[in-house]
Amino acid sequence: MALPTTETVECDILIIGGGMSGCGAAFEANYWGDKLRVVMVEKAAIERSGATGEGLSAINCYMGQRYGWNTPEDFVQYVVNDMMGLAREDLVYDVGRHVDSTVHMLEEWGLPIWKRENGEYERIGRWQIPIHGESIKPIAAEPARTALGQGNLYERVSVTHLLTDANDAGKIAGAIGFSVRENKFYVFRAKAVVITTGGASNVFRPRSVNEGLGRTWYSVFATGSAYGLMIPAGVEMTQMEHRFVPTRFKDGYGPVGMWFQYFHARVTNALGEDYTITRAAELDKYAPYGSAIPTPTPLRNHQMYLDLRDGLGPMYMRTEEAMEKLAEGDPAKMDQVRNEAWEDFLDMTISQALTWAAQNIAPEETPSEVVLAEPYIMGSHSGEAGAWVSGPEDLSPPEYFWGYNKMTTVRGLFAAGDGVGAAPHKFSSGSFTEGRLAGKSAVNYVTGNPDAPSLSNPQVTQLQETIWAPLETFEKFSGASTSSQVNPHYITARQGLARLQKIMDEYAGGTSASYTVNGPTLERGIALIETLREDLAHLGARNLHELLRCWELAHRVWVGEAHMRHLLHRKETRWPGYYYRSDFPDLDDQNWRVFVNSRYNASNNSWDVFTKPYINIVT
Ligand code: FAD
Ligand code: ADX
Repeated sequence: MALPTTETVECDILIIGGGMSGCGAAFEANYWGDKLRVVMVEKAAIERSGATGEGLSAINCYMGQRYGWNTPEDFVQYVVNDMMGLAREDLVYDVGRHVDSTVHMLEEWGLPIWKRENGEYERIGRWQIPIHGESIKPIAAEPARTALGQGNLYERVSVTHLLTDANDAGKIAGAIGFSVRENKFYVFRAKAVVITTGGASNVFRPRSVNEGLGRTWYSVFATGSAYGLMIPAGVEMTQMEHRFVPTRFKDGYGPVGMWFQYFHARVTNALGEDYTITRAAELDKYAPYGSAIPTPTPLRNHQMYLDLRDGLGPMYMRTEEAMEKLAEGDPAKMDQVRNEAWEDFLDMTISQALTWAAQNIAPEETPSEVVLAEPYIMGSHSGEAGAWVSGPEDLSPPEYFWGYNKMTTVRGLFAAGDGVGAAPHKFSSGSFTEGRLAGKSAVNYVTGNPDAPSLSNPQVTQLQETIWAPLETFEKFSGASTSSQVNPHYITARQGLARLQKIMDEYAGGTSASYTVNGPTLERGIALIETLREDLAHLGARNLHELLRCWELAHRVWVGEAHMRHLLHRKETRWPGYYYRSDFPDLDDQNWRVFVNSRYNASNNSWDVFTKPYINIVT
């Protein structure tokens, strides 16, 4: 099988990924760099791609500075507490001080935000405002598409690898990928690259397997590419041991924030007890974070986990109780509350509305089951995995600053959204904001470093052969068996994914292991995942769609391995409710209030895992 044709695209700035942060980067880079060629490459179509593609019901990161609600300093304090003491204060502050302007622009561009009678935004919680958000993604995508201009947006092209400079491995030179619609490679040569390719679902075996295959909380299209592209290129990563285990409505994965904060519902166990009351004393073990208000997300999980461990499930969100209280016996008020309850899911997680319908659940009459879901590796929500990036020059100490805001440790390579580590709670609005900051910074970088990078032709050819190999393997060996799914010469992407998920579930603290790990289990898991990584050379793909799945799998495997190596390094249990180390069951602030960072070295296939200090900047 001959390799397909290659189109080489020359640009100043390449944005990989057109999700929330990618759209922010495109908008801002074009504003500051109107003389530069800014190109975006996206594996889907930006109107519906990424984690916001199915819509949202809220903007979860908004300071409300014009109403005097919160300051960026308040935000830093909240985020650091929610992360049990570990977040980069400079990066969090940077999002906090700029995020309101993003929300105001989204409204100007057409996002309907709920309003009170006095014209102020309605509020869900301290940082969250409700929206009619089914169409948030097309609304965010339109200004990005306009800013990029015709001929600068490459959709349906999946990026598989970053390219570094032929003469300097510490400098970015572009990226390579393939079209998912036609036989064609794309090589992008760029002076700066902004990576915004999102977080990772499906690294761990989801609770919904055969019966609900394809249903997870975070988008199934979030394939860990931000990490899977950066790790093999030698980018320093941080907090890859961190994960987000969301409490979710059972089976439909409906989010719970609106129910807890806006409807003021509580969750009760089989005995009708509320774990936030019966398990209140548990929080004292995790001082000083246990007494924070609100209780940090992992600790809320931990309280529920203890009930489940003790066999006190199922847990029920008492929707009926909360709705009755809010309606106060007034049928018109009940109509409004019922509309809001359904809209929450219809805007954001339609599958939960379908689950309710399928199970005859009327929320005003029937409580609804919630569970702890499988772990997700991400950097924009209540998770903080990602790249170790430079902070802004006016805030960051030398340990956290190396020239350009949001630049990774590879020169000219910037990150945003789920791709940036130690800067969580950005959500949709904060990711767009961080994209804007990275886009502006990339313009500065290109202005100061105008020379075009050099690509290595042998490296590109070798990568093309590697990228195309699963198609070649299938063509060569498909005759060796009667079923294309069972063959002695290759594994399919689906089989590889099942193997990854089994390793992660059983050895890295997934749901079947009750989120529990120890050193020897992790060491075994790492050995197994290393073998899996070797076996990826034997993937087979029947068509371009399966080729896409193969490379998504490769990215997810990097995420899984990094996660386990970081877990092994951190010798404490900092986030009970997200994971437990049975050999180090306590929080150890004295020794471990530090970031765990890592760097992969491709030249000898080795990992360096080390710590970086926590520096108090804002609070
Ligand atoms: P994404 O928006 O996911 O963008 C990543 C982009 O990269 C996608 O377009 C993807 O197609 C593309 N891509 C990936 N890999 C490649 C590749 N290899 N090559 C090319 N392109 C690639 N936030 C809120 O503020 N409020 C809410 O109510 C809320 N609710 C949520 C509910 C659900 C069900 C989910 C899933 C998320 C929710 N969020 C919410 C969080 C929010 O969606 C994310 O924080 C945000 O989208 C992260 O932005 P990002 O740019 O990092 O990633
Ligand atoms: S999302 O999928 O809609 O983004 P979720 O509903 O879990 O997730 O959370 C929405 C927002 O509410 C987040 O900012 C989250 O931290 C917050 N949140 C969820 N539950 C609670 C709670 N019990 N107390 C305080 N904040 C909460």
